[in-house]
Amino acid sequence: MRLLLTAGPTCEDLDEVRFISNRSSGRMGCALAAEAARRGHEVQMVYGPAPAPPPGGVRLSPVRSAEEMLAACRRLFPAADALVAAAAVADYRPAERLPGKLRRGSGELALRLAPTPDVLAELSRMRRPGQVLAGFALECAEPARARAAAEAKLRAKHLDLIVLNGPESMEAAEAEFSVLEAGGSWSPPERMSKPALAARVVAAVERLLAAGAGRDA
Ligand code: CTP
Repeated sequence: MRLLLTAGPTCEDLDEVRFISNRSSGRMGCALAAEAARRGHEVQMVYGPAPAPPPGGVRLSPVRSAEEMLAACRRLFPAADALVAAAAVADYRPAERLPGKLRRGSGELALRLAPTPDVLAELSRMRRPGQVLAGFALECAEPARARAAAEAKLRAKHLDLIVLNGPESMEAAEAEFSVLEAGGSWSPPERMSKPALAARVVAAVERLLAAGAGRDA
């Protein structure tokens, strides 16, 4: 299959030296890319600025902001059979990007933020029949509420599969994950390494694709 993968964080610039971002290390995305490449798939990785080194055998599109990630994905998604959205996209960016460097003032400073695009939701709207879509949900609530929130994301973004994880997964080598497929029920939460989860997700996407389970656009 031709797999499009978003990974890493995005960085939303405030001025020429400062930005808003998050703790995403890119490890999950790199594990997914490595696993898919190992299984002989053509992997296109749209990668925000992250410390994890991308694996070999993968086509890389480095991006910085959510807007750039969306632009790259819009270009690449039509040729993809499946999308796995593992990126921790910043939901807000500074409302304006200042030239040079914002000077220190004497009092408080309030930043005005503007929403960024939801890359996965935008791609879901562009989807053609047969394409498989998988995403992640990072939830901080207790388990029942976290599952409900992740399930709502699966429905709102018309996904075939969603992986639920918590904030302890950020930068970590392993974490607790549960998986839900559309029309199915939650797998019990399981602590595993990111490569082990990647193997499970790639296998599920292969199976969904073979079954023609990608929902109609
Ligand atoms: N996602 C995306 N673009 C965004 C936000 C999220 O593509 N601007 C994708 C992520 O890659 C992930 C899924 O949507 O696959 C859910 O991301 P998450 O951050 O858990 O949820 P949000 O939709 O941003 O909702 P909230 O932050 O309110 O929990």
